[in-house]
Amino acid sequence: MSSSCCIHRPGVISTIILKTEDVVASRNLHREAFDEHTQEKLAIYKDYLEVFLRVFMNTTRVARIQIFDFFAGPGSDPEGNPGSPLITLSSVRKIRHETPSCQAVFRLYFNEIDPNKYEQLKARLAEEIPDNSLSIQTDCLDFPEAFNSQFPTMDRSANLVFLDQNGCKQVSKEVFGKLAGLQMTDTIFFVASSMANRFRELKEIRQHLPLIDSDFEHMNGANVHRIITAAYKRWIPKGRQYYMGSFSFRKRSNVYGLVFGSSHPCGLDKFLTVAWNHGGDADFDIDDDHLVPDELCLFEEFNKPKKVALFQKALSEKILAGEIRTYEDIYLFSLEFGCLARHSQEGLKKMVSDGTLQRQKFAVSYAAWTKQEKRPILFPEADSR
Ligand SMILES: C[S@@+](CC[C@H](N)C(=O)[O-])C[C@H]1O[C@@H](n2cnc3c(N)ncnc32)[C@H](O)[C@@H]1O
Repeated sequence: MSSSCCIHRPGVISTIILKTEDVVASRNLHREAFDEHTQEKLAIYKDYLEVFLRVFMNTTRVARIQIFDFFAGPGSDPEGNPGSPLITLSSVRKIRHETPSCQAVFRLYFNEIDPNKYEQLKARLAEEIPDNSLSIQTDCLDFPEAFNSQFPTMDRSANLVFLDQNGCKQVSKEVFGKLAGLQMTDTIFFVASSMANRFRELKEIRQHLPLIDSDFEHMNGANVHRIITAAYKRWIPKGRQYYMGSFSFRKRSNVYGLVFGSSHPCGLDKFLTVAWNHGGDADFDIDDDHLVPDELCLFEEFNKPKKVALFQKALSEKILAGEIRTYEDIYLFSLEFGCLARHSQEGLKKMVSDGTLQRQKFAVSYAAWTKQEKRPILFPEADSR
């Protein structure tokens, strides 16, 4: 069964095409107030959205900035806490106010399949102060249909695509590949990762994910989302540079998380900065660090999150093996590991103090990476490496 309608008023275009049988029964996140994990997920989305807006609003060559929220929900929870659509609207307004010189056109797109939630969403958006300079489109469509209708508009714009799906099946290989193939497009998507670890034998789950048998060898209840994020790299179209990061959440025994992808290292750098402001790459002790702020030890080495210590060890090994030779290589390796330039700087300083490297100014940053000339890492003169 399906029905459709179109409503037009200034600044808002609405389309409803419903296939009732496609409304899959699943847990309704919006029946209760958002829990702390949902709030954290939305806070990361908001923080990254604002960084994204600042970057592209200060880039004169960008004529159009679009935000796509394909699983938008009703706008807020029953207690009025804003969901992703209201967060998007208020952040766009705030950053535009801060950047009056920006000439770019803004377009916000919200889709929600559930007709009740969709009506609530429209009502919530209508309560907001009218702003004809913003184009807002809402749809009540099944995701594949909404995505296919919007994908052609993503060419030549700066786009942030938020895919807050319920489980894991909507971000298919085709959808992922199409998004990864775009320029100036960052994507954040949700994956209910625990299911992959729990039901590893189930074809129904595995078929939607890029996992292969060997991924399960080291998978456990804590690292499952990290492993799934790494597996999505298999779906990057051949020959394409694509930069990915992740953030895991734990709710009781379930781990789920966000996957981030960008066509540009600057996007990943900024996402990781946001993620480290929220605790690293998880809101729980993913590496079993047992770090409690009040019980920090006198020896700095024992206080460092295991991820950073592991990264610095791997970096040092790769430099000594000659696999990493320039500051630019260091920068990209840091991002790939989910660490920041500052984490590499700390590790490099240690290599200077133990005499492995010559004293030098380590220009490891996005700005340094953009320079044409590749700068080699300097070893002590006697070292012939
Ligand atoms: C996790 S919630 C999104 C929450 C939203 N980001 C917020 O902040 O409130 C997922 C939403 O996607 C909707 N949904 C589920 N399947 C969908 C589909 N196939 N196409 C579009 N929306 C869908 C659900 O009704 C639900 O409101």
